[in-house]
Amino acid sequence: MFEIRQRDGLARIGRLTTPHGALETPTLLPVVNPRKLTLAPAEIRDCGATGLITNSYIISRHDELRERALADGVHALVGWDGPLMTDSGTFQSHVYGDIEVEPQAIVEFQRDIGSDIGTVLDVFTEPEFDADRAEAELAETQARITAAVPLKGEMLLAATVQGGSHPALRERAAAQVSTVDADMHPIGGVVPLMEQYRYAELATLVLAAKRALVTARPVHLFGCGHPSLFALAALLGCDLFDSASYAKFAVDGRMMFSWGTRRLAEMEELPCGCATCSTTSADELKALPAEERERQLARHNLLVSFAELRRVREAIRDGLLWELVVARAAGRPEVGDALAALESHGDWLEQWEPAFRPRQPIANREPLLRFARGRLTRTATGGASFEHPLFGTVPEPLADTAPLRPPGNVRQRSWTPERVHAIATFQFGGSAADALLGGEVELVTSRNTGRLRNVLVDGEHRLSLSARYGLFTLRTAGACVIHAACAAPQQRVVVHADSAEFNRQGRNTFCKFVLECDPDLRCQDECLIVTESDELVAVGKLKVAPVEIALGQQGLAVKVREAV
Ligand code: GUN
Ligand code: ZN
Repeated sequence: MFEIRQRDGLARIGRLTTPHGALETPTLLPVVNPRKLTLAPAEIRDCGATGLITNSYIISRHDELRERALADGVHALVGWDGPLMTDSGTFQSHVYGDIEVEPQAIVEFQRDIGSDIGTVLDVFTEPEFDADRAEAELAETQARITAAVPLKGEMLLAATVQGGSHPALRERAAAQVSTVDADMHPIGGVVPLMEQYRYAELATLVLAAKRALVTARPVHLFGCGHPSLFALAALLGCDLFDSASYAKFAVDGRMMFSWGTRRLAEMEELPCGCATCSTTSADELKALPAEERERQLARHNLLVSFAELRRVREAIRDGLLWELVVARAAGRPEVGDALAALESHGDWLEQWEPAFRPRQPIANREPLLRFARGRLTRTATGGASFEHPLFGTVPEPLADTAPLRPPGNVRQRSWTPERVHAIATFQFGGSAADALLGGEVELVTSRNTGRLRNVLVDGEHRLSLSARYGLFTLRTAGACVIHAACAAPQQRVVVHADSAEFNRQGRNTFCKFVLECDPDLRCQDECLIVTESDELVAVGKLKVAPVEIALGQQGLAVKVREAV
């Protein structure tokens, strides 16, 4: 139902399949109010939306809307045939106090009107509530989630993580919701934090939830609708957002940008390339009749939001989402406060660092530093070295190896067995490198470019070089050498016998068959696939972090290169 296609730390690009089509995440579900449309659903779609969210509580409280929704379905009511999520009235209880609806009845209602994703009536725990009150409310939310699960039918169920501003409660709530048969996990109760730009607290609470949330289900951030927050929210591992801000800001004459908010009344020019701003001047926009101006501003706000989401997804593909968040912090200093909060979780976040990224990272941050320093401790000191602006002293032979390549580096170094040994040590550790290169080493280079292609030892093809990353891939012969020379669990992914049978035929390994992993392995590392009795069956590339497998990830675990 939720397939993760790309990763960058906690961030991911995913595909969530619903009965009315799929959503590519991270994405925004614009809020449509069934009683007042600022933009028609077709216009919202033209701005880039692939899904919408509407409010089942409002529909259920309005006689005509309720009857039409029950008779024709919520899709017909809204005029949208794509993925449609509904919320439950929790937010109305936050705004207006008590609401008149039964928790189970509103779940049944969402199911009966054909919502693709329905939401439990969780208790909106305010950030200022003390731990006792937050804990009592969390117990109520949890009871409502448990009661909602048997009612969901075909509908995907969103089971919210509450817990107020107490990280320990958030983590506990996340662990609890992960055990029930729900399909999505929103982070709730955070709208006041976003309204007050308390992004450092927001980051801490989302991270607390992420420590225990099952990674195989999408995470929604309730009420996150400003484009300046999308990069940060994605970096925290959130996949879906919803908000009515695009319309509310438009009513207020405010324009959203990835770098902040401006009042139209105060702008001389429109620094935006959207369909409205590129064909209309600020003065022309100001002169429009109120209703038309509101429409144009709402359109601008959505176009900017979806452009930013494309930017976020592209940054994830490049492995440069942290860099994008740093850029967004220039417009909103509170985004920088959130990054600082993330740095203090560098120890945990390091486990999510990939062994290499498609593009070279340039922003300094604790998780990456820890990763690089950890691997550098494997390498020998004392030889020729250079000073890297992020990583400090790096052995010269690693100057073309990810992520250590310094900015502006021109690859020219010649290939020697010593250089191969240094890279193999950085990747696999000293004893593995010694074993891999123990014998007569033959370096096969490209005649045209002089680049290293293959490393043969005693006539066996053990390693190939990926020139782009300056890292080796293991061939079967190399895997056998590491397997013989290094004790378990080093470099190993232990799989169930059912999987081993297939991996022996060169087929990929899936997370559900993984019994154990070397905890020092990272996403994108080369790994040995072994049975419970440490029999080597295949070699490949790990496509998830071991921490993700521990958190219940599903899908591809190791892309098998060669069977043994
Ligand atoms: N919308 C904004 N915040 C929340 C929340 O905490 N729960 C639900 N269900 N909807 C919301
Ligand atoms: Zn614009």
